[in-house]
Amino acid sequence: MNITVVDHPVAAALLTRLRDKDTDVEEFRQRLDSLTFLLVSEALADATSAPAQVETPLGPAEGSRLDPMPAIVPVLRAGLGMLDAALRLLPAAPVGFIGMRRLESPDGVSHECYLESLPSVLEDRPVLVLDPMLATGGSAAEVIRVLAASGVGRVTMVCALAAPEGIEALRSSVPDIRIVTAAVDSHLNEQAYIVPGLGDAGDRLYGAA
Ligand code: PRP
Ligand code: URA
Repeated sequence: MNITVVDHPVAAALLTRLRDKDTDVEEFRQRLDSLTFLLVSEALADATSAPAQVETPLGPAEGSRLDPMPAIVPVLRAGLGMLDAALRLLPAAPVGFIGMRRLESPDGVSHECYLESLPSVLEDRPVLVLDPMLATGGSAAEVIRVLAASGVGRVTMVCALAAPEGIEALRSSVPDIRIVTAAVDSHLNEQAYIVPGLGDAGDRLYGAA
């Protein structure tokens, strides 16, 4: 397993605004968008390229293009808040959608996949999965299972926050996963929320809190 905790003062400041319970929905959306831009930039740092030649107004220039173009898969709902930033970096990327919900009960947390809408071009293609929260890792494990059935290439989970419990769960179930996150927090509480975390990311993004 490969984990990158992005060490950048702007990322740290953005995450602090996301954590603040007094940050309103408008600012939360803006800050998550900006943080995602930094996280996805880091996630693409070792993306593979092919040579590409273009004509500048002054003549030919040797350059490069991403090859293969990674796909982007936001995990509904909360991952949708990260999609625009990822598309600014990869405007030509294929995009698929997976809807996951956590079902919280006194017996613990279970996970339900309620939407799977993936493009037909995923085979062997690297995939960036966007989800602000990696808590128990149950949602991520199910997403990776769905993607594996489509024959995807390397999967990178792009998260604002991760919990040690979720990282360990993925380490044992999907050891070849890569995780890019802005922080690894202390632990999960009894409701499997990340502590100190930022609360319920989907509720904070879509004003349902
Ligand atoms: C949140 C979050 C992740 C998941 C993480 O989604 O966006 O998908 O929980 O928790 P886990 O690691 O324990 O699976 P949630 O199920 O609350 O749905 P939402 O995005 O619709 O709010
Ligand atoms: N999902 C969230 O949105 N927040 C958490 O802390 C855990 C799961």
